[in-house]
Amino acid sequence: MERLSKKPIIEVRHLNKSFGDNHVLKDFSMSVYPGENLVILGKSGSGKSVLIKCIINLIQADEGEIVVLGSPIQGLEQDELDDLRAKVGFLFQSNALYDSMTVRENLEFPLRIHWTKEERALGAEAAVKEALEDVGLLHTIDRMPQELSGGMKKRVALARSLILKPKVILYDEPTTGLDPITSREISQLMVRVQKKYNATAVIISHDLNCIEITSDRVIMLIDGTCYADDTFEALSKSTDHRIKEFFT
Ligand SMILES: Nc1ncnc2c1ncn2[C@@H]1O[C@H](COP(=O)(O)OP(=O)(O)OP(=O)(O)O)[C@@H](O)[C@H]1O
Ligand SMILES: [Mg+2]
Repeated sequence: MERLSKKPIIEVRHLNKSFGDNHVLKDFSMSVYPGENLVILGKSGSGKSVLIKCIINLIQADEGEIVVLGSPIQGLEQDELDDLRAKVGFLFQSNALYDSMTVRENLEFPLRIHWTKEERALGAEAAVKEALEDVGLLHTIDRMPQELSGGMKKRVALARSLILKPKVILYDEPTTGLDPITSREISQLMVRVQKKYNATAVIISHDLNCIEITSDRVIMLIDGTCYADDTFEALSKSTDHRIKEFFT
């Protein structure tokens, strides 16, 4: 297969993570290849958010190795980790927009961390507008988050995770709480922006519509390990009862 000849963008090897006696991730391994959209599917509480947070070291793994864009993240100094995070967009399960800031200010926020004052003076306005245009929400630039619908907030959060033109985008439940039509729109938008930025994406979801639209490959996280790894189509036809229950 083509992907096997490419070097992974993300490698997770023998990851273990417990909270007290709750052993969430058990010797979990996976590779994510350049340009693919990989979906992680698993029940509520199975450890999907913990996994994605370990990938950018928001949660520290107990054991195992995580390499992102060639850097072993557990060994990085804070400034190296900050540099790496600039290349990895993260869409949180809750949108995590700042309620007291306008849409524009929300989008400028990552620039304040990762760009110099001069870079911002020259490019912030154009970068904010381009990211908002990507998600079809340029007209909301001066609105407050509470004036937006749930789907619009998701799109603004997506624009904010795109503003630094990340090489990798991590999505935690991008369509949760949305109606099926908006969910489809967001999923199609994810595919479009991924193509435009030539990014690699890891998407956590149990929305079958979203998975069908976005995924090149699906990993099933069951009992803390990678239980299955295949295309959506192949998994949806599986006769394994633990896989089947996700598709009925
Ligand atoms: N900071 C934490 N401290 C203690 N336990 C935690 C912490 N974060 C997650 N857990 C536990 O780890 C397990 C996995 O949680 P996680 O949030 O990864 O689930 P999930 O698969 O993302 O579920 P959902 O689909 O509901 O979002 C749960 O049992 C949760 O209680
Ligand atoms: Mg979660």
